[in-house]
Amino acid sequence: MSANSLVISPSILAADFSRLGEEVRDVVQAGADWIHMDVMDGHFVPNITIGPDVLKGLRRWTDRPFDVHLMISPVDLYLEAFAKAGADLITAHMEAGPHIHRTLQAIRALGKKVGVTLNPGTSVSLLEPVIGMVDLVLVMSVNPGFGGQAFIPEAVDRVRAIRAMARGKALRIEVDGGVGAENAGLLAAAGADTFVAGSAVFKGGASVYAANIEAIRAAARQGAKAATLPELPVEA
Ligand code: DX5
Ligand code: ZN
Repeated sequence: MSANSLVISPSILAADFSRLGEEVRDVVQAGADWIHMDVMDGHFVPNITIGPDVLKGLRRWTDRPFDVHLMISPVDLYLEAFAKAGADLITAHMEAGPHIHRTLQAIRALGKKVGVTLNPGTSVSLLEPVIGMVDLVLVMSVNPGFGGQAFIPEAVDRVRAIRAMARGKALRIEVDGGVGAENAGLLAAAGADTFVAGSAVFKGGASVYAANIEAIRAAARQGAKAATLPELPVEA
């Protein structure tokens, strides 16, 4: 269970890239709390997306926080460019290089919120030395690189383990990959409070973005509430 408010962060990877500005505007009007931006380099992950100039252009379309997920290696060289382009939170991969501690220090020094993320095959125990340095841990619930992949259910237990490791700190736990109304409740009950969704938000076009976001939020709210209920007495 988390003390933080629930955040829905639509991933614009699933938006129409020919009209990204309008898509950001529409999804914010539909209730998005943050905008999740997936940056891929064709090296750390087998896909290439967008860079800091696109973020700079999109920044004009909304005041909502940009949640920038860097799937690039090396990463340190590009932090300043994303900070200057208007990122609010910058998340780096544990696996992107040997110096994650330095990377997290650098994001903090740029005055941005600090996020760290782990691939599904990376042990959560690696977070122990850095968990005190971050505002957010992003749990990948797919192998990064593409939208529209199936949710890996072990992510739920990983969220629970990280929430326990946070020991009451108001750490945000975000989940990314295959997230939708069907699993947001379980994730919230385990301690997640921040939900990235690409396909589940952008499916069906702008007229249903609000309904799509609300479905995820409602499921997450139910899950978070269930996590706070006392255990029912056992019938004799
Ligand atoms: C995957 C990205 C995700 C992706 C999620 O590497 O980090 O943010 O866009 O897309 P869906 O919600 O479609 O799985
Ligand atoms: Zn992402």
